[in-house]
Amino acid sequence: MKITFYGHASLGIEVEGKHIIVDPFITGNPQASAIDINTLKADYILLTHAHGDHVLDVEAIAKNTDAVIVSNAEITSYYATLGFKAHPMNHGGSWKFDFGKVKYVNAIHSSSFPNGSYGGNPGGFVIEGEHKNIYIAGDTALSMDMKLIPMRTKLDLAILPIGNNFTMDVEDAIIASDFLECDKILGYHFDTFGYIEINHEESIRKFFDKGKDLMLLEIGESIEL
Ligand code: NI
Ligand code: MN
Repeated sequence: MKITFYGHASLGIEVEGKHIIVDPFITGNPQASAIDINTLKADYILLTHAHGDHVLDVEAIAKNTDAVIVSNAEITSYYATLGFKAHPMNHGGSWKFDFGKVKYVNAIHSSSFPNGSYGGNPGGFVIEGEHKNIYIAGDTALSMDMKLIPMRTKLDLAILPIGNNFTMDVEDAIIASDFLECDKILGYHFDTFGYIEINHEESIRKFFDKGKDLMLLEIGESIEL
């Protein structure tokens, strides 16, 4: 499983020969100007929630790639009405796709579209593929529900928001990683706007002091699990 950071909360995942894009917000992020969305491959687009900083480039990428949009039922019906392919899910449910299993799990946040349309309740994803298991938290507060995830799935990586203000901060993300029983963390949702700027060295050290590994990737950088 290969995971590429496209800035903010945008990810690319390659698993079982399939390409997945998560929460594409690239053309609106000056820090990600080196990423050309027209070159991105996508068989699926996974959306945690409907906020603009997670869905900005969905329509352009889906038009280019004919990808299937996977999210909660309200978000997928919004895109299905516009003519896009979609697979609806809801919290607690999972589905075996051709690349692996996806479960839509709880997040504590909000989820309206930029135009005010209802975006259902926000979520995160647990993805199991190629014998690797990852959790993509989406935008969320620290939640006791995170303790439920390792009861079903032994995680190899947790992708957690760490930018504070709209989501967890670093300290809460450290507690989240305890709840998730996963000491390998990829941080996201930081530095994009003034509200969520973080001190990288200090954040990495805080995780390190608890025996945990916080990775902060450059935009366009990948890791292999
Ligand atoms: Ni949000
Ligand atoms: Mn966000």
